[in-house]
This record gives sequence, structure tokens and C-alpha cells, in this order.
Amino acid sequence: VIAHRGASSYAPENTIPAFDLALEMGADGLETDIRATRDGVLLLLHDQTLDRTTDGRGPLTERTWAEVRQLDAGSWFAPAFAGTRILTLDEFLVRYARRTSLALEVKAAGIEAAVARALEAYQEEKDITLTSFNWDTLVTLKRLQPTLRVGWLTRQFDEEAMEQVCSIGGVQICPPANQTTAELVARARSRGLQVRAWGVSDEAAMARAVEAGVDGMTVNLPDRLITYLRAQGLR
Ligand code: G3P
Ligand code: CA
Repeated sequence: VIAHRGASSYAPENTIPAFDLALEMGADGLETDIRATRDGVLLLLHDQTLDRTTDGRGPLTERTWAEVRQLDAGSWFAPAFAGTRILTLDEFLVRYARRTSLALEVKAAGIEAAVARALEAYQEEKDITLTSFNWDTLVTLKRLQPTLRVGWLTRQFDEEAMEQVCSIGGVQICPPANQTTAELVARARSRGLQVRAWGVSDEAAMARAVEAGVDGMTVNLPDRLITYLRAQGLR
């Protein structure tokens, strides 16, 4: 049960309230998205622009951290979250890396070296996985630091994608939940890969991924997945 941007159906995504709530609900891990400001500060933001999830405007890469740290990342979600700030990657790691499992999605190309450096102090943590849809980002991360655990967010779940992940020593393949089948999951496992599904927006997708036997999935409603797993006797 990996809380997608935290318990993001209940609190503003990628913020402390969403991450804390996910852990209170009993999630096994947190997923988040990494980008960088104009002056290279790594922080947690899903979109390229600030518009949807803060009171700022325009591309993040045009703003400095001094500007971005002033923004309100909570009011857009609900007035009760007014004053919630954007988290830097460092703040996030200090708060959560030793408490739970982390799935860190690298959203921007060109920040791989900075991400690898930020994780240097966390090499003992076995449960941090770096993911990306961008294949070149994963290759770069492994080249910079071969001990990093990486997983590929694929849009196509097939043998070719599995082969590709294995070719760089990746540990995880992350397919859309609606492509998971027991056969494909078994094939990935036989190659030594974990399978972590994404795109779980309703109970049908949840059920499909669970029945296929995935190792985990990202969900905006971690409590609902936990209830579902308990009902199935799987938790
Ligand atoms: O779990 C992976 C998922 O987060 C990828 O999609 O757009 O939510 O970052 P997105
Ligand atoms: Ca993500």
C-alpha cells in the first residue's frame, strides 16, 4: 500500500499533511515526485508548473527556492490546509526515510546527479526506490550510482520492458494496473523483478492488481486499499 503523493484524496498532494495521514492510515510506503527550482533546489511537485497545487504561477524552473518556499500549497485543496508549504527533498527524507518505504519519482531530466547526491546519506535505507517514466533518467541514475534501486514506470507491460529493466540492474517494473495479469507478474518475478502497479483510480483496478499478485501499488486512498486487503484476508 503505497500512498500516491501521500493520502492525496484527503489532503494536499505531496505535503506533510498528506504523507502523515497516509502513515496514520497504515500505508506501507509513500510515493512522491521530484523536480528542481531554477537555482537547483530539489523539491516535491508533480506538475511542471506551480498553478494547480500552489498559489504561484508558471513553470517551477523559472522560480528560485526563496520564491517557492513562500507559496501556499494547501489552500487550493481546502481552506483547512492554508499555509501548508512545499517540501524540499531533503526535508522529506529527514522526516520519512527511516520510517517507511519510499518511491521517489524523478520527474525532470537533468536533475539525476543532484538526486543521487541527496540520497548518499541514505544508502543504508533498503527501502528507497527511484522511479521514472523517462528511461534515460534511470540509465543515468544507475551510471552515477550503481547501488541505487531503480524501477521503470512503463506504459507497456511486456517481456521487452522487463528485459530492459533487467539490462540496467533495475529491481522494479511499474506497469499500469489495468495491464497487470497473473502471468505477466509471474514472468517479471521469475526475472527477479518486483511489480508495483500505478493508475489505481477505483476498486476494480485495485482488485485487478491484487488478483494479478503485484507486490504493491500506488493509491490516493490508502485506507480503501487496506480495507479491501483486509476483506480479502490479505492483511
Ligand atoms: O505511481 C506512479 C505514478 O505516480 C505516475 O504517475 O502522474 O501520478 O506521477 P503520476
Ligand atoms: Ca508520481
